Amino acid sequence: MIKPHGSDVLKPLIVDDDKRHAGLMREAQSLPGLLPDSAAAANAVMLGAGYFTPLAGYMNLADAISVAENMQTSSGLFWPVPIVNRSNNIDAIKGAKRIALLDPNVEGSPVLAIQQVDAIEEIPDAQLKLMTEKTFGTLDPAHPGVATFTAAGKYLISGPIEVLNYSYFDQDFPDTFRTAVQIRDEINSRGWNTVVAFQTRNPMHRAHEELCKMASAAVHADGVLIHMLLGKLKKGDIPADVRDAAIRKMVELYFPPNTVMVTGYGFDMLYAGPREAVLHAVFRQNTGCTHLIVGRDHAGVSSFYGPFDAQEIFNTIPEGALLIKIFKADHTAYSKKLNKVVMLRDAPDHTPEDFVNLSGTKVRDMLAAGQPLPQEFARPEVAEILMRYYQAEEAALTG
Ligand code: ADX
Repeated sequence: MIKPHGSDVLKPLIVDDDKRHAGLMREAQSLPGLLPDSAAAANAVMLGAGYFTPLAGYMNLADAISVAENMQTSSGLFWPVPIVNRSNNIDAIKGAKRIALLDPNVEGSPVLAIQQVDAIEEIPDAQLKLMTEKTFGTLDPAHPGVATFTAAGKYLISGPIEVLNYSYFDQDFPDTFRTAVQIRDEINSRGWNTVVAFQTRNPMHRAHEELCKMASAAVHADGVLIHMLLGKLKKGDIPADVRDAAIRKMVELYFPPNTVMVTGYGFDMLYAGPREAVLHAVFRQNTGCTHLIVGRDHAGVSSFYGPFDAQEIFNTIPEGALLIKIFKADHTAYSKKLNKVVMLRDAPDHTPEDFVNLSGTKVRDMLAAGQPLPQEFARPEVAEILMRYYQAEEAALTG
C-alpha cells in the first residue's frame, strides 16, 4: 500500500488507550486552558485522525515561515500550509509547560487536546503578511481564508499535542466522518490497490460524477474515495449534512455497488487554492489513496486563482516529495452535441454554446424558486434534495 507522507506508518495523535486518556482528562482539570480558534481546533482533529502524519503538533514560527515560503519545515519535511495554533490572549498560559486546548465548536468548550508548550512567539507583522501571502497568494481581506487567517491571534503557541476526541465531527456525522486510519484500513480490507480520491466541498452534479468515473477508468482504479469537507465553510456554501445526503443518493443510484467509499474529514475550508490542493494531496496519501483528482479551480474562491493554478503548483514541487499522483482534469461539462459529459480538452471542436453550463448563482436561484435543474446538469434525485434545502432557506428568509 502507498506509504503515508514522510513516514512508514500513520501517526494519529488521538489517545485511544483508555488509561492514558483518563489520566490526561484528569490532568487537564489542573492545566491552564486555551480556547483556540476554529482553524486551530480543526488542525487538532486532523492531527488526531492521522491525516497530518508525520506532524507531531503545532509548528513554531520558523517552521511556519519556512513552510509558507518553501513548502518545507526547517528540518526539510515537505509541507504546503502552516499548521498553527494562534491566540491573542496568552495571559492564562504564560509560563505553562502544558495546556488544555478547549473546543471552540462544542457547547461548554470541553477539552479537545493537551498541548506541550515548546514556545510562545509573537508573530511580527511583516512575517504574518509573508505567511498569509505565500499561503493564499493574496493579502486581499475579501478572500475568506485571508480574512480568517489575518484575524487569528498574534501569538503562535507551538508544540506536540495529544488529542482526546474528534470534536463534533464523529457525533454529527457518524456515518461519514472517518479518520485516515479507518480509511486506510477499509481500503486494505476491500483489497483495493489503486484508489482515486475526490475532494469536495459541494454537492456533486453530473460533471463531478463523470469526473470520478473518468479518472477511475483512466488510472484503472479499484475504487473511488469521495472525501468531503465537514468543517466550516464561508457563508452561502451548502451545509455538510445536505451535501452528504445528496452525494450518498448519487452514489447509490449512479455508481456500481462497492466501487465508492463516501467519507468526510473534519477541517475548515481554507480556500487557499493551489496550496490547499497540495495539502489535499498530502492527506489523501495518508488515507492510502494513490491518486487525487484536481480539476478546475480546485479549492478556489471567486477569481483569486487561475482555473488551473492548483494543477500547475504540482509541477513545482520537488521530485519524490509526494507519492500520490495527481489526475489533472480539464473543465468538464455536458456536451449537447455528444449527449454526454466530457472534458473540454476531449471536445476541441466545441464552442461554449455546445455545453450545458450553469453558474452557482443560477443553480441556487432555480432551486430556491422550485424549478428543476436540467437533467444534463444534475441528477434529478440530487436536485430534489438540494431543492428542499434551498426552499427551506428561502421560507426561513421570507418568514
Ligand atoms: S473544492 O473547493 O473542494 O475543490 P468542489 O467541491 O467544487 O470544490 O470541487 C471538487 C473537485 O472537482 C475539485 O478538484 C475541482 O477542481 C473539481 N471540479 C469541480 N467542478 C469542475 C468542473 N466543472 N470541471 C472540472 N473540474 C471540476
